[in-house]
Amino acid sequence: MATSMAAVLGFLFFLLPLSANAATFEIVNRCSTTVWAAWATISPQAGGGRQLNQGESWTININAGATGGRIWPRTGCSFDGNGRGSCQTGDCGGVLQCGGYGRAPNTLAEFALNQFNNLDFIDISNIDGYTVGLDFSPTTGGCRGIRCANDSIVGECPAELRTTGGCNGPCTVFGTPEYCCTNGPGTCGPTPYSRFFKDRCPDAYSYPQDDPTSTFTCPGGTNYRVTFCP
Ligand SMILES: *[C@@H]1O[C@H](CO)[C@@H](O)[C@H](O)[C@H]1NC(C)=O
Repeated sequence: MATSMAAVLGFLFFLLPLSANAATFEIVNRCSTTVWAAWATISPQAGGGRQLNQGESWTININAGATGGRIWPRTGCSFDGNGRGSCQTGDCGGVLQCGGYGRAPNTLAEFALNQFNNLDFIDISNIDGYTVGLDFSPTTGGCRGIRCANDSIVGECPAELRTTGGCNGPCTVFGTPEYCCTNGPGTCGPTPYSRFFKDRCPDAYSYPQDDPTSTFTCPGGTNYRVTFCP
């Protein structure tokens, strides 16, 4: 009896360190308007969403080791009491609590936690366009934050990329390998459109193979704050 209890406890204490160290992400809305925050991860497949009035914040827990992570602002939403409706930008299948990614355009905070050498990989992406500026920063030390908040991306958006509530990326609009980089590594480079985004948000991905200036790392176990309209 005593032995089996010890075995069970030993097993639990073995599991706990693997599962207990989720990262927290505090999402803050500093915009002068309501924003509907959204998040999703591919592995594990998970997501959620919440209305954030001006000044409100929401803290979520993300599993250690989660990949394909995204946090994004949705704008112009209206949902019924069951959380069904739609958003002008960032809509995720017409539900308040997202279970997957949203529709472009959206400014994206992206992450993969506890990867090689237990590093978190974080970035901001304009590949799916720009709607609301955001800051993505650690709340603990050990790495630098990143920011993409220049509304001239919307104000000066090239006519062919312009859309209600934001500025699309060229891959969304034209769908060609030149902009989507679908022909494999090393086959695509900057374009006038990607430079338009990069000039205004140097920390953010401006096209899919923009990794060298757009990927950042933090120690695994870091907690974060994502601020809309920082
Ligand atoms: C936005 O980007 C433009 C072009 O690089 C720059 O001239 C302007 O100062 C930026 N504005 C802000 C608020 O960063």
